Amino acid sequence: MLWLLLACGAPSKSQFADGVDSTEPLEDEEVDSSIEDTAVVEVEYLDPFPSDMSSDFGLTNTGFILEEVLEYGALENACELYAEFPDDEDLKIRCGKAMFFYEGFGGVGIPQPLLDFVNTKFTDELGEGFAEYGMIQDPYSEKGRPIGYGAGAPIGSVDTLAYSCASCHFGQLPDGRYSVGMANYDYETGKQFLALMLLPQSVMPGFNDDEHDPEALAVIEPLRQKLWGNPLLFAQMGWDLLPLLWQSDMSAAEITRDVETAYASWRSGTMDVFIPPLPLDDETHIVSKIPTLWSIPNAVEQETYEMPDAMLSWTGGSPNLNHFVSGFLALGDSSDWTLEDVQPLVAYLETLKAPESLDTEYPAQVEAGRDLFNLECLDCHNGYQGSSRELFSFEEIGTDHQMQYILDPDLDGVPIAGVDAQPTHQIKAPRLTGVWAKTRLLHNGSVDSLEELFCINGERNDDTPIFGNVGHVYGCDWSEQEKRDIIAFLRTI
Ligand code: HEC
Ligand code: HEC
Repeated sequence: MLWLLLACGAPSKSQFADGVDSTEPLEDEEVDSSIEDTAVVEVEYLDPFPSDMSSDFGLTNTGFILEEVLEYGALENACELYAEFPDDEDLKIRCGKAMFFYEGFGGVGIPQPLLDFVNTKFTDELGEGFAEYGMIQDPYSEKGRPIGYGAGAPIGSVDTLAYSCASCHFGQLPDGRYSVGMANYDYETGKQFLALMLLPQSVMPGFNDDEHDPEALAVIEPLRQKLWGNPLLFAQMGWDLLPLLWQSDMSAAEITRDVETAYASWRSGTMDVFIPPLPLDDETHIVSKIPTLWSIPNAVEQETYEMPDAMLSWTGGSPNLNHFVSGFLALGDSSDWTLEDVQPLVAYLETLKAPESLDTEYPAQVEAGRDLFNLECLDCHNGYQGSSRELFSFEEIGTDHQMQYILDPDLDGVPIAGVDAQPTHQIKAPRLTGVWAKTRLLHNGSVDSLEELFCINGERNDDTPIFGNVGHVYGCDWSEQEKRDIIAFLRTI
């Protein structure tokens, strides 16, 4: 279906004709006769939310049963099978899914003994598999580890566990279903970093509380009390972590007070992606919300929707999945992984689509909301799945602007060393598909619901730098009914 819009001067005044099931532009007389502007510019927008016919290659990517979404353990040898039958497309995609969940790509990781110690000895405080920090325990892990780690580069003789994509990009929908590509908005990255890095330091001789951030100390306090109150556990920690003391690289895990403060300040589902211990540091505190990975436009969709490229990351500086994944590989210590090797992962990511909401729809309201969207929102959300086709200045959108410094703190257009991405200092409109499931909105995750985004319970006016929820006030001055309509529509896409 094609939406035809007639833009008369300023985009916000554009008029649109109702949906037509034809790719032919409407004849003049069919168009709303109130448009009498002589300098009419025709702007055609495709329906950003086409019905989706793509295949899931026999995999279950969304479901109530975790084991089913993990293919009942069949991911374990999926890439070996694919290596045997490299022409089998189904096996390729399945191998990509295995990489998504279980591959660390030799990245910089957490020492295995440390992760296992904290994971198994503090289950009262942290739950099974770090559940209290929002991670999901892997039913197939003999050690009870959470989903989201794979083999990382060893530190000397000590094995490490590096992040796989699933730690952040696999989560539960509000209705409880697990879904690949759902952002894990429960994940407390900052708190987990503190438990893994600050906790061991905090019980060492010479550690001085006064030199550390009180909020960060508060996060680990219950764990520290447990260690202090339990000499056996304390001794075991020493024993388990002993091999690490010989590794000089471990000094890399020391974190500064500023970094502690940052960790303690993040809401779940948000983080600074260029901060220690992650290998790249842009020395600027920026909070990014984990995005959903559904419906990333492939080359054909990019062209159809006249997008310059896939515009990945919040600032739109990464043109496509190959580029993005290469960046991820470059973070690792090892050059063992080539772009060729990760094609199964890229191909798998391209199959991910947003799950539909199970809530009842109210068709009249949805249609009214669709009309409002086409009139008031489509000028910006006009690319595939409501992504924008261009970038906007933070000033124009009015949302917190700290993100403009990402990877380029002095704004000179040159990214920090080691990064192959163009700093844009601008922001894209994200894809909106699956927005019904998001409990974090805007790039810094400062807004919790569509109701809040459209100011149903009042103006958003927290302008705290980095964390504030101001801006993107489109629709905030509408009637309550219009707001309910747009929300009803957005919940269906
Ligand atoms: C520790 C959490 C974390 C892990 C692990 C992680 N990501 Fe992300 N990912 C993020 C965050 C946060 C962003 C947003 C960054 C930004 O744009 O500033 C992001 C952005 C993305 C984007 C851009 C999406 C868009 O629409 O712009 C893609 C694609 C992506 N990640 C894929 C992956 C893949 C593939 C992996 C595994 C190889 C992975 N990520 C691992 C947190 C993570
Ligand atoms: C001037 C361009 C523009 C207009 C008009 C606009 N948006 Fe946006 N929209 C954006 C940008 C840019 C962002 C990202 C802002 C950010 O994260 O700071 C965004 C973000 C969003 C988000 C948050 C998505 C997420 O995952 O965080 C939703 C929902 C949304 N827009 C819906 C709408 C609706 C509905 C309308 C019409 C009432 C609308 N937008 C009008 C540009 C626009």
